[in-house]
Amino acid sequence: MGKFYITTPIYYVNSTPHLGHAYTGVISDIIARYHVSLAEKTFFLTGTDEHGAKNVRAAEAAGKEVSEFVKKKREVFINLAKALNLSNSDFIFTSDQKRHWPGAQKLWNELSENGDIYKGLYKGLYCIGHEAFVTEKDLIDGKCSDHNEVPEYIEEENYFFRLSKYNAEIKKKIESGELSILPGTRKNEILSLLEEGLRDVSFSRPSRDISWGIPVPGDAMQTMYVWCDALTNYITALGYGSEDESKFTEFWPADLHVMGKEILRFHAAIWPAMLISANLPLPKTILVHGLIQSGGRKMSKTLGNVVDPFRIIEKYGAESLRYYLSREIPLFSDGDFTEEKFIEAYDGNLSNGIGNYARRVSTMIKNYFSSELSRPDDGVLASVPMHKKTTFFNSEDRSPSIELEYFSVSYFIEHSILPKYHTHMKEYDINSAANLVFALLGELDGYVQANEPFKLIKTDPEKTKAVLWNLAYGLATIARMLLPFMPNTSAKIFDMLSIGAAESSWKKFVVKDIPPLFPRLETAKNSAEK
Ligand code: ME8
Ligand code: MG
Repeated sequence: MGKFYITTPIYYVNSTPHLGHAYTGVISDIIARYHVSLAEKTFFLTGTDEHGAKNVRAAEAAGKEVSEFVKKKREVFINLAKALNLSNSDFIFTSDQKRHWPGAQKLWNELSENGDIYKGLYKGLYCIGHEAFVTEKDLIDGKCSDHNEVPEYIEEENYFFRLSKYNAEIKKKIESGELSILPGTRKNEILSLLEEGLRDVSFSRPSRDISWGIPVPGDAMQTMYVWCDALTNYITALGYGSEDESKFTEFWPADLHVMGKEILRFHAAIWPAMLISANLPLPKTILVHGLIQSGGRKMSKTLGNVVDPFRIIEKYGAESLRYYLSREIPLFSDGDFTEEKFIEAYDGNLSNGIGNYARRVSTMIKNYFSSELSRPDDGVLASVPMHKKTTFFNSEDRSPSIELEYFSVSYFIEHSILPKYHTHMKEYDINSAANLVFALLGELDGYVQANEPFKLIKTDPEKTKAVLWNLAYGLATIARMLLPFMPNTSAKIFDMLSIGAAESSWKKFVVKDIPPLFPRLETAKNSAEK
């Protein structure tokens, strides 16, 4: 049995989560649930990043004690994971002195013993928004353009990490795909950064300036740099540095780190260098998604366009949000979220799409066959094939000719839809996998049009039964494909057909009455139509 270890970034708790945080969680959950469905032993980690100046400053602004402040905010992130129905195996937070600190300090010691930590004088600029040192060329009019802030000038004694030493090795591993970075555009971006050359990075700050954090082992006058501390969460959560390292042995290296593009360089440069220095294996893949915008602009508090995921979930349900994020937002580029588009997608693809299809099929089975269908004989099924128009090109003059191909619905599903679905899911291309659900739905709608079971029932009940069998089989397949995306909807469809998700072939469907999967929304537009 294989294993699968997947992580999200750990989020800063300086403010409450917005839709972007929900996005990474949902994407990761879909991938995690898919691997569970393959019977792989799956560990899915998420959590919060609680040290650093950014969190301290937010606590001060709120007039709260830091540890109390971060704890309250952490609870909101935990609640978001629940509200989104994430299946995370664990939740790590870096202010956890029992679980996180020993491993972070152990890793520091490893780097130090390997000669990769040295003391030096740092002179430069620090942007708290980034929690990173920046240079003049990162600034516009003296301000960090991402955070619209003048960075602090810092001149102090720090410990440095010998990042430059690992430049060539990391580059080789990324080039060869040993450390895979998806998509290719992000891989190229990081390769050009490595081409320019990495400089050693300051890995601590004097504790008189930053006391909220993990003390550097053997030097309490220094606090670990927040990124050095945060990156280790991926192994401390597995017990690295604790008495019981069995999970670490079992699950490390990570199969997949999921994140937004703005933090790739920390994960594709600093993190691998730390691991190589400590003689630990590197994660296999880093999946980099785009950032969600709102109304065409970066979601930001200053712009006032931050979308609250709790509000969306309360209003429309977690399942439809999961749908929107995984299908309607492009994984690898910046996607836009507006409530209008969300409602449009809900109406078109969920309510009138899957929901309507499920209702039509189940109603016909109920009305024509007293809710029960057993699998018809192959001969009968063969009499109601699915046809598909295929264009052939004459080998001589390349002239096109259209021909109809016939195959059974189950053949189409098993040989055309499902293999592609699994390929996409294994490549983490969840947009394409979700699109296939709707491609199948489109074919099934066409099949209804072509066979008109509501007319056929008057002349040929036997054939109608076979048509409906195929339609129900298609619906069951949709439920199976939706399982990682919309686990509750999937379960409702299985229940509606009285079948189990684990059954590999279905012999009988017994239709139950269930409430509509996606009730029409009470929007202003819909009520005006009434
Ligand atoms: O960077 N669209 O934490 P963070 C999509 N603590 N995803 C978004 C997003 C958006 N608009 N905004 C945020 C940190 N995210 C560090 C990470 S990891 C060892 C330490 C998601 O609170 C996305 O995954 O700024 C992004 O990378 C992450 O939240 C950053 O969260
Ligand atoms: Mg950020």
